[in-house]
Amino acid sequence: MNSPQNCKILVTGAAGFIGFHLCQQLLDSGCNIIGIDSINSYYSTKLKEDRLKELNQHTQFRFIKLDICDKPKLDQLFKDEQFDYVFNLAAQAGVRYSIEQPYKYIDSNLIGFINILEACRHFPVKHLIYASSSSVYGNSENIPFSTEESCNEPVSLYAATKKSNEMMAHSYAHLYKIPVTGLRFFTVYGPYGRPDMAYFSFTNKIVNNEPIQVYNNGDLMRDFTYVDDIVQAIEKLIDLPFDTPEEKEKPYRIFNIGNNRPVKLMDFITTLEKHLGMAAIKDYRPMQNGDVYQTYADISDLEQRIGFKPSTSINEGLKKFIDWYKHYYHITIK
Ligand SMILES: NC(=O)c1ccc[n+]([C@@H]2O[C@H](COP(=O)([O-])OP(=O)(O)OC[C@H]3O[C@@H](n4cnc5c(N)ncnc54)[C@H](O)[C@@H]3O)[C@@H](O)[C@H]2O)c1
Repeated sequence: MNSPQNCKILVTGAAGFIGFHLCQQLLDSGCNIIGIDSINSYYSTKLKEDRLKELNQHTQFRFIKLDICDKPKLDQLFKDEQFDYVFNLAAQAGVRYSIEQPYKYIDSNLIGFINILEACRHFPVKHLIYASSSSVYGNSENIPFSTEESCNEPVSLYAATKKSNEMMAHSYAHLYKIPVTGLRFFTVYGPYGRPDMAYFSFTNKIVNNEPIQVYNNGDLMRDFTYVDDIVQAIEKLIDLPFDTPEEKEKPYRIFNIGNNRPVKLMDFITTLEKHLGMAAIKDYRPMQNGDVYQTYADISDLEQRIGFKPSTSINEGLKKFIDWYKHYYHITIK
């Protein structure tokens, strides 16, 4: 992106956790962004509105409330704006919710995603970058998880939709030469995060002296990745040429973005307690349906291609999250 001021960028899911941070990062680099989001009520819409309030302080940011399932409106937007770069972060997120509300995943993650691909087909873009997920690895025992693996055994519908996105993107790169990069994010956390995720819901419960549910008796490991590391990696990927022999044939690729340092759930809870200055009441539970035992990203490809590796430790990242949390919710802990 030689002159970011002259580029038109679309970020879908801009009011979401990662979309918000990505917009902040790109705005700081001088980009012009149109952000869209349906502001669904999967979690607090106030949090989404507050993120948008921050983004709206930038003159180069414009928000449009739009559902990516609304094909006529999405096509019109692509036609009017002729985007250079598209970041598709809009999706129904969450593994557990996909058990209760499967059709929400089919709508946003499959119908919405094909609408994005079709729009990029008819109104060509320089690069489409979309969010996939570490959940595509299911309960793979090949640790660390490598993008070389076929990932054909998802253990949740959420994971199945993300794997489907990768295959749909592959077909469009092959058929229409749409330059497309899929990013498998590994448990992203940070300020303005997602209240449905453990780091956030545990914090809410600890602060309210309620028990936290520790699944699989705490015997789980996650490659927790700080959100700034994610958005820095994304920014570096924007102009990465499709220049490997395979990419020259079809402009398609996938990267893992993870911290590459899995943490035991119990160590994570201890770090959270330390930064909060409060002890958690622990309610030990068996493994949940759809959950995986561990995630661990092999990021050698990413490092080699963009010379970047996430560097925020869980201690540093959780401290930043807790500092934001106390400030946002006006909480003082004695
Ligand atoms: N946070 C993580 O740990 C993580 C891990 C792996 C993958 N991901 C993926 O990264 C992306 C961003 O995740 P996030 O954590 O910021 O989640 P998020 O829920 O905070 O953000 C997603 C946003 O998309 C919006 N949205 C949902 N369906 C939409 C639709 N049909 N049209 C328009 N907007 C819609 C939601 O309102 C929300 O604001 C998602 O694709 C998610 O699946 C996230």
